[in-house]
Amino acid sequence: MRHLISPLDFSAEELDQLMDLASDIEQNPKKYAHVCDGKKLATLFYEPSTRTRLSFEAAMLNLGGSVIGFASADSSSASKGESVSDTIRIISCYADICAMRHPKEGAPLVASLKSSIPVINAGDGGHQHPTQTLTDLMTIRSLKGRLGNMTVGLCGDLKFGRTVHSLINALVRYEGIRFVLISPRELRVPDYIRDNVLEANHIPYTEVESLDQAMPQLDILYMTRVQRERFFNEEEYIRMKDCYILDKSKMALGKKDMLVLHPLPRVNEISVEVDDDPRAVYFRQVQYGVYVRMALIMTLLEVAPC
Ligand code: NCD
Repeated sequence: MRHLISPLDFSAEELDQLMDLASDIEQNPKKYAHVCDGKKLATLFYEPSTRTRLSFEAAMLNLGGSVIGFASADSSSASKGESVSDTIRIISCYADICAMRHPKEGAPLVASLKSSIPVINAGDGGHQHPTQTLTDLMTIRSLKGRLGNMTVGLCGDLKFGRTVHSLINALVRYEGIRFVLISPRELRVPDYIRDNVLEANHIPYTEVESLDQAMPQLDILYMTRVQRERFFNEEEYIRMKDCYILDKSKMALGKKDMLVLHPLPRVNEISVEVDDDPRAVYFRQVQYGVYVRMALIMTLLEVAPC
C-alpha cells in the first residue's frame, strides 16, 4: 500500500505517469466517471481549507466514489483529545483512502504508519503540501510544455509557505532548473531546504529582496501569501504582510511568456488588475488540481477504467 506524504514519495517517472493520466482525464472525463464506484474518500481536515478539501471531494465524486469527513478539528474527536494515530485506525474501517490536513508538521506521516488505507498529506503545518505541488507541476507542464530548463521565481513567505518547500523539493529533479528566491530577509527559505535540497543537489539559486529586479529573468513567477497563522506575533505579520504586491507595472517587467502561479488563497500579493493578463494562470491552476487529484486517487487505489 502506498501513501503520499512527501513530494518525493513518487519518482520523477511516476510523477510523469500520474500527469499523463491527469491529462487523459482532462481530455476524456467520461471514461473515468465510474472507476471509483463504491469507494469512499475520507477528508480529515484539522485546519481551514477551501480548495484542497473541495478539490479532493470533487475529484472523488468525479470518479464515481463518495466522500465522508470533517472540515475542522472542533467538529472531530480531536477536540476530545483523540490522537491522530487512533483516529486513522477508526477511519481505516470506514473509508478506502484518506486526505489529511493538520497544523502539526509530520501528523500525516504518523497517521500513515498506523493506517491500513492510503494516506494523502493535504498540508502539514509549515512543512509540505505535496498535492499542491502535483497541481503546480501539472500546470507548468501543461502550459509551458516542459518542467526543466527554466528560471523559477518564488516570491513572498518562503519560510512558512509549505507549497514552496514541496515545489522546490520536486523541481530540483528536473534538468536546468534555476531558482530566484524573492523574500524579505525574515521570510527566507528554511535552512533545511537551502542546505539539504538546493545546495545538496547543486541547484543554481539566488536570494533577493527586490521583485522588480528579479522579474525580467523569470519563466515562472510563483507568488505566495504571507502565512499569518504561522507567525508568533501579529505585529510581525502586519509589518510583513504587504511586502510584495504584484501589479500591472511589475508585470510589464516580465517576459511575454512568463506564467504567474499562486496556490491561493490570495490576500493582497496579487492585485486584481493582474487577473486579466494572459500570463496569470492561478485560476486555471485550480482546475488542474482536480485532474491531478483524480489521477492520484486512482493511482493509490490502483484502479483503472475497464
Ligand atoms: C495553500 C496551503 O494551504 O498551504 N493553500 C492551498 O492549499 N491551495 C497556500 C496558502 O494557504 O497560502
